[in-house]
Amino acid sequence: DPPLRDLATAKGKVIGTAVTGSKLTGTYGDLAGAQFNALTPGNAMKWESVEPSRGTYNWAEADQIVAFAQAHNQQVRGHTLVWHSQNPGWLANGTWTPAQLSTLLQDHITTEVTRYKGKLATWDVVNEPFNEDGTYRSTLWSDNLGTDYIAQALTWARAADPTAKLYINDYNVEGVNAKSTALYNLVKSLKERGIPIDGVGLQAHLILGQYPSTLRQNIQRFADLGVDVAITELDIRMQLPATEAKSTQQAADYKAVVDACVAVTRCVGVTVWGFTDSDSWIPDVFEGYGAATPYTENFTPKPAYHAIAQSLGGT
Ligand code: G3I
Repeated sequence: DPPLRDLATAKGKVIGTAVTGSKLTGTYGDLAGAQFNALTPGNAMKWESVEPSRGTYNWAEADQIVAFAQAHNQQVRGHTLVWHSQNPGWLANGTWTPAQLSTLLQDHITTEVTRYKGKLATWDVVNEPFNEDGTYRSTLWSDNLGTDYIAQALTWARAADPTAKLYINDYNVEGVNAKSTALYNLVKSLKERGIPIDGVGLQAHLILGQYPSTLRQNIQRFADLGVDVAITELDIRMQLPATEAKSTQQAADYKAVVDACVAVTRCVGVTVWGFTDSDSWIPDVFEGYGAATPYTENFTPKPAYHAIAQSLGGT
């Protein structure tokens, strides 16, 4: 098969991967550059990474990933500006008035988006705003600023880079359910108010054999609302050890996800959350689980890799 990126580009789709800047050498760097037409920094653009102490910025890893992407003719998906997690300690543990928090958030968004103005295709502006039942998650932001922090964040991001596509990104919103319906209603209301919102990111941290059968229908309803859709963090975890049967099932699940995106014009593409098991968050967080990505730890492509290729028009 040709590289995934050639297949995807021929279909007008994005095939991306999350990456860790320090690993972009050797085989990891070769594959990241050769196989994907888009990169998402896995951690490097999060607030705790870029402003570890108040007013002291560290852009090294984020800049490195953007430079790598430019050298390899890849898009970059910025991730993420407003989240309840991975905020710097000085912010999370500080005591702030709502007015101070609002200013801090505006400055953060303006500083980071301006730095990469014109260089990023997309920003995950707001990450994971909802609970499973579709209510708003209680966070530093919603608790202090109300849920309109979302509209404000989008507005500030647009002002700083008018060309980047602005997304809201969440997990467990792949199928039609209470959470994805809450996201749908939010996007609808933002559009009615004229707030800049270009797309929704469906993270797709899936479990083997649990492909959400309403994925395509869900993508289509967002498309019908007038926004783009991206699968932003795809991985499919299994209980270890991996077996041939599990790898076969995983390939079918990967194919179903990519097929659903390919089937809907406004689904811009699929990003995997790490392309190799040596760069996956799963074993750190789900004990006994892993093997969630398309390549083994030793960079051997799995059936899942070939399934993605097939879905993108390969053989
Ligand atoms: O950088 C430190 C390192 O200095 C230290 O030695 C090491 C020891 O644990 O930790 C390192 O930080 C880790 C960081 O990843 C970088 O590797 C953190 O502990 C770890 O918690 C952090 O995990 C990240 C996670 O977000 C945090 O929530 C994962 O790499 C990252 O893949 C994951 O990504 C999120 C998306 O942003 C949003 N959607 C869910 C997804 C999975 O959780």
